[in-house]
Amino acid sequence: MHAATLPVPATAVASPMRAIVHPRYGTPEVLSLAEVARPEPGADEVLVAVHAASASIGDHHVVTGKPYLIRLSPFGGLPRPRHRVPGTALAGKVVALGANVTGFAIGDEVFGDARHGAFAEYAVVAAARLAPRPATLTFEEAAAAAWAVTALQGLRDAGRLRAGQRVLINGASGGVGTWAVQIAKALGAHVTAVCSTRNVEMVRGLGANEVIDYTTADFAAGAARFDLMFDLIGNRPLSACARVLTPRGTYVACAGGGGDWVGPMFRLGAVLLRSLVSGRRFTTFVVKNTSSDLRALAALIEAGKARPIIERTYPLGEVAQALAHVGSGRTRGQVVIRVA
Ligand SMILES: NC(=O)c1ccc[n+]([C@@H]2O[C@H](COP(=O)([O-])OP(=O)(O)OC[C@H]3O[C@@H](n4cnc5c(N)ncnc54)[C@H](OP(=O)(O)O)[C@@H]3O)[C@@H](O)[C@H]2O)c1
Repeated sequence: MHAATLPVPATAVASPMRAIVHPRYGTPEVLSLAEVARPEPGADEVLVAVHAASASIGDHHVVTGKPYLIRLSPFGGLPRPRHRVPGTALAGKVVALGANVTGFAIGDEVFGDARHGAFAEYAVVAAARLAPRPATLTFEEAAAAAWAVTALQGLRDAGRLRAGQRVLINGASGGVGTWAVQIAKALGAHVTAVCSTRNVEMVRGLGANEVIDYTTADFAAGAARFDLMFDLIGNRPLSACARVLTPRGTYVACAGGGGDWVGPMFRLGAVLLRSLVSGRRFTTFVVKNTSSDLRALAALIEAGKARPIIERTYPLGEVAQALAHVGSGRTRGQVVIRVA
């Protein structure tokens, strides 16, 4: 029987489901498909029959436990993963509601951020991190869209991007970048996107006004100056990034490269220090998925201003293969897991 059509009596939450389990940190091969107990929603949570989940670089960090610092975060755990089932962004159907939940009903089609547990037939999601599925998207597309809040908050909130401004997006072809190009355009900006040769046409198709192919040109060497640089790669010295900004321009670090131990933390620290000594704004942010921003994204999508770019779709049993691809760092758009 199709998971979404299962009747869910009050006692059914204890029944088994198929899920990807994460017994220890390592390459994605540590993951396997198993039968586990279906989770039960807490008072402020919703139980979602998962139709699709997105497989992101964030999920790859959680599974590998690298950078090691992630093991100290709520997503990690020591000495082994705190959460048995990984997976964050999802889309599906509401099948049970916690006692305090209002605004959702059984049968609602939703998308959002489970924080963990999305690579499963059922996942518990805080109602505050869930919104109605955009009417124009399939479940697979909606699961991809749930990863887009990073682009919205990075540009609109951290970057304070306004209509008419010029923005440089470094890393425009990946999971966040493909959304960032479209959201920056929707906010009325002039967009210059940085990507490799194979992605130039795709990124242009998303609406970028100009595209810099980093294999043949250096964005920091050009004469153009930007009100905002949204950096999804963190591969250039901050002095080079400062050079491309207008005198009152803003640099937003969404990523920071770095090694296996602290990952981007050194660069993000340097970003904050630089903001103290520079006339330009240097800042960073951590995405906070909220129902209101998921709704804002859905409105953009339904207005035809943004759409997900899905490179590959894998069945639930192949999450390991999906994350191995994502972990290569060469994803074009996003990778999605089909669950139901
Ligand atoms: N701050 C936050 O709260 C937050 C939230 C979500 C994600 N993030 C971070 O944001 C970053 C981007 O996430 P994502 O989902 O977009 O990652 P992603 O999907 O893994 O990005 C991969 C893309 O980057 C391109 N790329 C690789 N090297 C590049 C370079 N030197 N210049 C330009 N493009 C390059 C790749 O294509 P080619 O190899 O063909 O160039 C590929 O298309 C990650 O580091 C992630 O951890 C931060």
